[in-house]
Amino acid sequence: MRPIGVLCAIPQELAYLADNLADATTSEVAGMRFHAGHLDREPVVLAQAGMGKVNAAIAATLLIERFGCRVVLFSGIAGGLDPELSIGDVVIADHVVQHDAGYTLKDGFTVYQAGYLPFFSPNDALGHAAEEALLGRVRAALADLVLSPLSAGDPARPPRLHFGRVLTGDQFVGSEVLRERLFRELGGAAVEMEGAAMAQVCAAFDVPWLVIRALSDLAGHESHFDFAQFVDEVALSSAMIVRRLLPVL
Ligand code: ADE
Repeated sequence: MRPIGVLCAIPQELAYLADNLADATTSEVAGMRFHAGHLDREPVVLAQAGMGKVNAAIAATLLIERFGCRVVLFSGIAGGLDPELSIGDVVIADHVVQHDAGYTLKDGFTVYQAGYLPFFSPNDALGHAAEEALLGRVRAALADLVLSPLSAGDPARPPRLHFGRVLTGDQFVGSEVLRERLFRELGGAAVEMEGAAMAQVCAAFDVPWLVIRALSDLAGHESHFDFAQFVDEVALSSAMIVRRLLPVL
């Protein structure tokens, strides 16, 4: 059976998965660590790529081409954009968009399909949609999921699972103005720095992908503090969902 690739950016995102990996063999390629082995008897390759779109693209390419992965997941953290969401909520992407790819004219910046010149895209689509059949299995497997409350969370508002649009860009967002624009103009539920780049690579190789993100902050002026406080806890929550999903992928 070909393995499932699991991509992470930072050590906190990888920790729980690496700790539970059986038969682990570690290799280093392009300055990135890859851990091949089994999680609950499922063959997997875990990659710690580092942050940002280029790192994600390198690691996704290696997972597919060198390690033969049949599906590639991202597991990690994100900033919330949708005001209905709270820290600790988990967003699974039904669609991903690179929010910093596009063109700037005198009236400002317009997001455009990454990798194409304006007006030369082969279709009108912006970003990439997750595979319907895969998402259906994910929804079914998580239908009765109960997320653990955050240690410093509001007991009256337990964490929720949400399916929605995830935006990717090479910047940490800590601005109310940008957060509001990304939600209003692009309908983003969450923002992070790797998912849509990974999806672009997967689309190029015709490999299904999935992005799972737990919210460490709300991408506003307190995001740096919230990130530091919640990164470990919410990264664990995303990794635990990966483990639960492996049998249906
Ligand atoms: N990952 C976690 N929080 C983020 C934020 N606010 N912006 C971009 N990536 C993030």
